[in-house]
Amino acid sequence: MSGIVVEPTAGTRVVTTIAELRGLLAGRRAAGASIALVPTMGALHDGHFALVRRARELADVVVVSIFVNPLQFGPAEDLDRYPRTLDADVDALATLGVELVFAPSAAEMYPDGPSSTRVVAGAVGGLYEGASRPGHFDGMLTVVAKLFNIVAPEFAVFGQKDAQQVFLVRRMVRDLDLPLAIEVVPTVREHDGLALSSRNRFLGDAERTTALALSEALGAAAESADEGPAEALAEAAAAFGDHDGAELDYFVIVDPETLLPVAGDATGPALALVAARIGATRLIDNRVIELG
Ligand code: PAF
Repeated sequence: MSGIVVEPTAGTRVVTTIAELRGLLAGRRAAGASIALVPTMGALHDGHFALVRRARELADVVVVSIFVNPLQFGPAEDLDRYPRTLDADVDALATLGVELVFAPSAAEMYPDGPSSTRVVAGAVGGLYEGASRPGHFDGMLTVVAKLFNIVAPEFAVFGQKDAQQVFLVRRMVRDLDLPLAIEVVPTVREHDGLALSSRNRFLGDAERTTALALSEALGAAAESADEGPAEALAEAAAAFGDHDGAELDYFVIVDPETLLPVAGDATGPALALVAARIGATRLIDNRVIELG
């Protein structure tokens, strides 16, 4: 936070236009306030609230964007089904002291339809999530770049649960010399290890149990990581296989610096990434493991 005292404004204000948001932020900046952005697609849960709390520690003004970005959904994906709970989201953000909620329409963000200029995520953007969801990361980076330009925050806060997203956002900031710091907050989990996700609300009771396949596979990989990547992958596959009905998309162990798969003799910290379909719901998770 800035060293000078910045007066908070009362209440949470929902803004739907870029012009109004820019005007309000210009006023706050002129009064010496620093700004942190938490980009979201809404349907907020405790994982998002952890991002907001971190943002409040970092800056005087917290802007939470709520925008289900059509550019990052493929034609056969769940754009229409994606949960939209704006009123409940705003109520929750008000209790957390969020000053501004930016909830634009698609027409406000993309007045000419799907924008012709896109940020390209490059080769890593075509792996893992990008292989299963072609164009997803180009769409994600494009809207994140737009939000950075609209809000011009000193900080933007993301969740580690979307590890590949975090990797690509950090790289975009570095590659394009964007003048802000990216802050990453650990994944928030249920008592039994399930990573919080807006899509968890689609899981029926039996699917909720099946969904533990992801965190348990990651746990098995972490426990056997001492014995090397091949053993960690084998143990992860066995743990995943205990859950009938979970359909594995990928389970990879990657170098956190490059996000490329580790060599067979790799040692040290690595990142295990998993994605799976539980019924109609696609979930992702990840965990840092220590290869021996
Ligand atoms: O992680 C998300 O919710 C989205 O990918 C983001 C960063 C808000 C961009 O639409």
